[in-house]
Amino acid sequence: MKAYKLRDNIYWVGVIDWNLRNFHGYITPRGSTYNAYLIIDEKVTLIDNVKYYLFEEMLARISDVIDPHQIDIIVQNHIEMDHSSSLPNLMKIIPNATIYSNANAIKGLKMHYHQDWNFQEIRSGDFINIGNNDLTFLTTPMVHWPDNQVTYCPQEKLLFSNDAFGQHIASNERFEKDFPLDLVIEEAKKYYANIVLPYSKQVQKVLDSVSSLEINMIAPSHGLIWTEHIPEILNAYKIWSNNITDNRNALIIYDTMWNSTEKIAFTIAEAFENKGIKAKIRNLQHTHISDIMTEVMDAKYICVGSPTINSSILPTVAAFMSYLQCLAPKNRIGLAFGSYGWSGQSIPMLHKMLGDNTGCGFKMLDPAQVHFIPDKEILEQIRENIEQQLASI
Ligand code: FEO
Repeated sequence: MKAYKLRDNIYWVGVIDWNLRNFHGYITPRGSTYNAYLIIDEKVTLIDNVKYYLFEEMLARISDVIDPHQIDIIVQNHIEMDHSSSLPNLMKIIPNATIYSNANAIKGLKMHYHQDWNFQEIRSGDFINIGNNDLTFLTTPMVHWPDNQVTYCPQEKLLFSNDAFGQHIASNERFEKDFPLDLVIEEAKKYYANIVLPYSKQVQKVLDSVSSLEINMIAPSHGLIWTEHIPEILNAYKIWSNNITDNRNALIIYDTMWNSTEKIAFTIAEAFENKGIKAKIRNLQHTHISDIMTEVMDAKYICVGSPTINSSILPTVAAFMSYLQCLAPKNRIGLAFGSYGWSGQSIPMLHKMLGDNTGCGFKMLDPAQVHFIPDKEILEQIRENIEQQLASI
C-alpha cells in the first residue's frame, strides 16, 4: 500500500472502502474513502484516521513514508467512528502521542474508547507550530456532530475540512480534477442532502470563517480532494445551505396500493408540465429515500402521496416523511395527495406533516384526494385545480 504525495511533506494515507453500500441508512453505490493525512515535519502529525476494519491499510500507507512510531501528534477533527475508530490500535503503537482536539471531541472520545490518552484541548482559533508549518483549528459544531472542527495549514494554504465538502466515492483517483466533475458534485450534493442539510445555518458560519482564508486545496475526510474546482464546491455549499431551489422543478413522491394514488401522481405531473415546471415522479417502492433527498435539494415543489391504510399512511411513505422532516429542507411548496376507501386520514396527515411548523413548514397547495378509484373526469378536476393554484403563485 502506497501513500499519495499531496505536497512536499504532506501525504494522503487514507483508505478506500470499495464495498461500502450503506452509511447509516444512506445508500452509497460508489463506496467511499476515509481520508487521513500525514504531515512530515519536526513534529510528525496525523490528521484523522479511518474505520477500525481498515486500520492495517492506513498503517501500511503511513509505513510507506515513515516508521509509524515516529508520529508525535494526532489531530482529531471529528470523533465519528469512520474517522476515529483506528485510535485504539494506533495508540498501542504510539502511546505517548498527543491528541489535539476540542473539548466536545475529547469528551466524546473518552466515552467512545474509555482511554486516558494524552489529550490536548484546543479552542477555535488556536494554532500549534509543528516545525515548518502551523496548524490552525476552527471548530465547526454540527457540521456534522457537535465535536467537528477543521484544521488549516497557512503555509500550504490547505484546509483539512473533515466531513465538510466530502463525497462518498471510492476511487483510485485522489483529486476531483481527475474524476468527472458532474459526478463529484452530484455525490457532494447527495452527501449534503443526507448528512449536512439540517445544519445549514452552521454551514453558513463555516463558509464565512473560511472565506477569509487563502485556500488552494480542500482535503475532506471522504472522497476526492478539491484543488481545481474549489470555487464550484464553495458556491454549491452556499446554494445548498441557503435552500435555494429551482422554481421550475417539482418532485412527486408516493407509494400506492391499487394504483389510484399513482394515477393522481401522474395527473399532478401533467399539471406541472402544463405550467412549464419539470416534475420527477418517484415511487418509494423503486427509489431509495437517500436518492430522493438528493433531488429534494433542487425541487421547489415537494408533493407526497399515500393511500389511507389502517387510518394512516403506508410505511414506506412514513419512513420517507420521517427522513424528510429530520433533514429539514426549507422554503419549499408542498402538496399532499392520495386515494382512500372510507376514512381518508392519510391526506390530512401528510398535509400536516408537510405544512405544519412542527413538520417541514412548507407553504402548502390544497390537497388532492380521491374516494376510491379516480375516473378521467375526477383526474381532470385535480389537474385543473392544481394548474389554477400554480398560476396564482
Ligand atoms: Fe464522516 Fe460524521 O463522519
